[in-house]
Amino acid sequence: MIRQAIIPLAGLGTRLLPLTSVYAKELLPINGKIGLEYILDECIEAGIKEIIFIISKKKEIIKKYFYNDKFYRRIISKKKDPRIIKEYNKIKKYKKIIKFVYQNYPKGTGDAVLKTKNIIKDKFFLMLLPDDLIMKKNCTKDMIIIHNKFNCSVMASMKVKKNTVKRWGIYSRKKNIDKYNFYINDVIEKPEIKKAPSNNAVIGRYILSRKIFNKLKKQKKGKGGEIHITDSIRLLIKEGEKFIGHNFKGKYLDCGTMNGYINSSLEISKI
Ligand code: G1P
Repeated sequence: MIRQAIIPLAGLGTRLLPLTSVYAKELLPINGKIGLEYILDECIEAGIKEIIFIISKKKEIIKKYFYNDKFYRRIISKKKDPRIIKEYNKIKKYKKIIKFVYQNYPKGTGDAVLKTKNIIKDKFFLMLLPDDLIMKKNCTKDMIIIHNKFNCSVMASMKVKKNTVKRWGIYSRKKNIDKYNFYINDVIEKPEIKKAPSNNAVIGRYILSRKIFNKLKKQKKGKGGEIHITDSIRLLIKEGEKFIGHNFKGKYLDCGTMNGYINSSLEISKI
């Protein structure tokens, strides 16, 4: 059973400057809702009971967004607007299941995950990267079904254009399980086109085993001087840990780049 999810939120969001110079990218509106809410709803719908936000001192605005009760109560007592009441109730519901941990220096996704070591209770947990929205079909739900069946790690996968492999973690595939799932042989963070073993990219949904923490403790910096989760996953696979790649059925929206962010509002408004 997967009960806990973690969401790294300490990144600087430089790809979305200037929107992120004084604001958190995860709070930017996408078709009238903050981006983070889509991720929260995906988790809740998939049965996740606790969600751990990895923030930084610079991103405390995220905490504020969920802890603004006095303000809401004042407005509601004056206005009694049913829409605001509904939204506030939603925020209260989210707040009940959110915990915060801090990663004050953005040293990479691997470093962010390590900050949750003492909070993760079960053998397996979920990680979601907030830049990656998957609409129409709940990817987390489908990945949990695969995890329950095979009792191993599962990561989301999508075919990308060959000339963009340098932007992603890229899988080398072992054998197919079925049309949507395959065993992972290896995974390489942002390879050069020539070195890419496929065009199957890692998308930001991971079901990981607690064993990853032992690898992360010793993980050296990788591409771009960051500590990458991909590099620790790679070590676990080399030691024989089973990892499944899941080609999700939903629609992918990349909210981490300016073009992708603009496009995501447009796409969601059509759903
Ligand atoms: C991260 C991961 C990468 C993955 C990507 C998916 O990269 O390191 O392996 O393919 O998310 O969005 P980032 O977007 O932080 O550069």
